[in-house]
Amino acid sequence: MSKELQLLNCPQCNAPIDYVLGETLFTCKYCGYTFSWIKEGEFRIIMWRKQPIFILKRNSEMLEKTNRTDISSLRDPASPEERVKRPDLLVCIGICTHLGCIPSWQPEKIPGLDQPGFYCPCHGGKYDTLGRRLDGPPPENLHLVPYEFIDDSKLRIGTEKFAGYSENIRKIQELPKA
Ligand code: FES
Repeated sequence: MSKELQLLNCPQCNAPIDYVLGETLFTCKYCGYTFSWIKEGEFRIIMWRKQPIFILKRNSEMLEKTNRTDISSLRDPASPEERVKRPDLLVCIGICTHLGCIPSWQPEKIPGLDQPGFYCPCHGGKYDTLGRRLDGPPPENLHLVPYEFIDDSKLRIGTEKFAGYSENIRKIQELPKA
């Protein structure tokens, strides 16, 4: 398991936070305690349904890099709009689509490339800050997780009755009402 993997616990009641989180505010679903969680340019991993979920608050430089990518050059083509509900926030499953390792966050540059993103050192898989496969053996982009915004500062991953789709998601889909 990656050293970066971390399970977040509520600072007030110590309950595991695996369900509701916020872009800048994080609300515990058990006791309702809200605390500052992620800032621009920051990256976090949380556990959701026993899977590592990557949360990245993308800054302007990251947005610019991914907007300049030629979509037709990608093995698994997807526009930025197809990968995120809001341009500044990536939410995806942090499991490499090659053989299932957990890629590491590269805040400066992915080895051999001129942009930040995710790097899977096992076999050299590379993904941009939208989780799109850029290089190496992975056949697909990082899979997405179903989520919805509760309001401007909070999002919900899954619902109590809905855990995911029957197939892997590589382009964003609406979260069905449970
Ligand atoms: S498991 Fe990630 S590149 Fe092979």
